[in-house]
Amino acid sequence: MTRRDSILREMGLGPIWRLRDAPDVAPADDGVEPAAVQVDPPPAPPPPPRQAASPLKSLASFNSAPAEPAVARTAPADAGERSARLAGLDWAALTETILACRDCTLCEQRTQAVPGVGDPQADWLFVGEGPGAEEDARGEPFVGKAGKLLDAMLAAIDLKRGDNVYIANAVKCRPPLNRTPEAEELAACFPYLARQIELIRPKLIVALGRPAAQALLNTDIRIASARGRCFDYHGTPVIVTYHPAYLLRNPLDKAKAWEDLCFARRQMRDRASGQGEV
Ligand code: URA
Repeated sequence: MTRRDSILREMGLGPIWRLRDAPDVAPADDGVEPAAVQVDPPPAPPPPPRQAASPLKSLASFNSAPAEPAVARTAPADAGERSARLAGLDWAALTETILACRDCTLCEQRTQAVPGVGDPQADWLFVGEGPGAEEDARGEPFVGKAGKLLDAMLAAIDLKRGDNVYIANAVKCRPPLNRTPEAEELAACFPYLARQIELIRPKLIVALGRPAAQALLNTDIRIASARGRCFDYHGTPVIVTYHPAYLLRNPLDKAKAWEDLCFARRQMRDRASGQGEV
């Protein structure tokens, strides 16, 4: 079995993509994209870039804090104040600030905050939802089952964790019981991701799942209808796809994630050769 076959098998794609009558050779001209893939034409053009400088502004109010938090938190501040606090921080100071953050209730049950991992000057930024149990324990994003699938997804487009790739989450602390982060938690944490993006200056961002897409695009988004489109985050293209944990539960949608990754890679190539949009 070739490396490519084993990657596709890992993603659960091998049997799905093989053409019944096709010769058993690597089918695509670029050696990665399977010949049987039918990529839908991109649907509608992307919406105009948002004007707001503070993502999730409308969600930034805090009204869900418990009366007596187990751990003292800093007073809630709005997104603007948070961003101002972080402006100018370098990686070390930003990481330290994230690790010490007590700006929302998620700090109360975490083992540690999970800032992110990878190449600080990566062209590719992948943004997940929030740490799970293993990430909370180890302090690194996507190290559990979903992380294994993410690594396979990266490998499928010739990428590797840490090598021109940075991986971060929309919230840096584990939501209890792995629940979806609340809007106010996403809003509280967003300035950290925004500062990470300023420091990394990625060429392309891939939002993994709805919370990541919502945080980045400041709009309620459904992955199914946002796939295949190129959005904009302050001049950086954003592509959305399914979260690896969702794909583990819905393996048939891995094929769509594969299309999305191929789309992302084409966008990256087109932009590098000056043919891109944005
Ligand atoms: N899911 C995420 O969204 N992020 C992680 O780091 C792990 C699982």
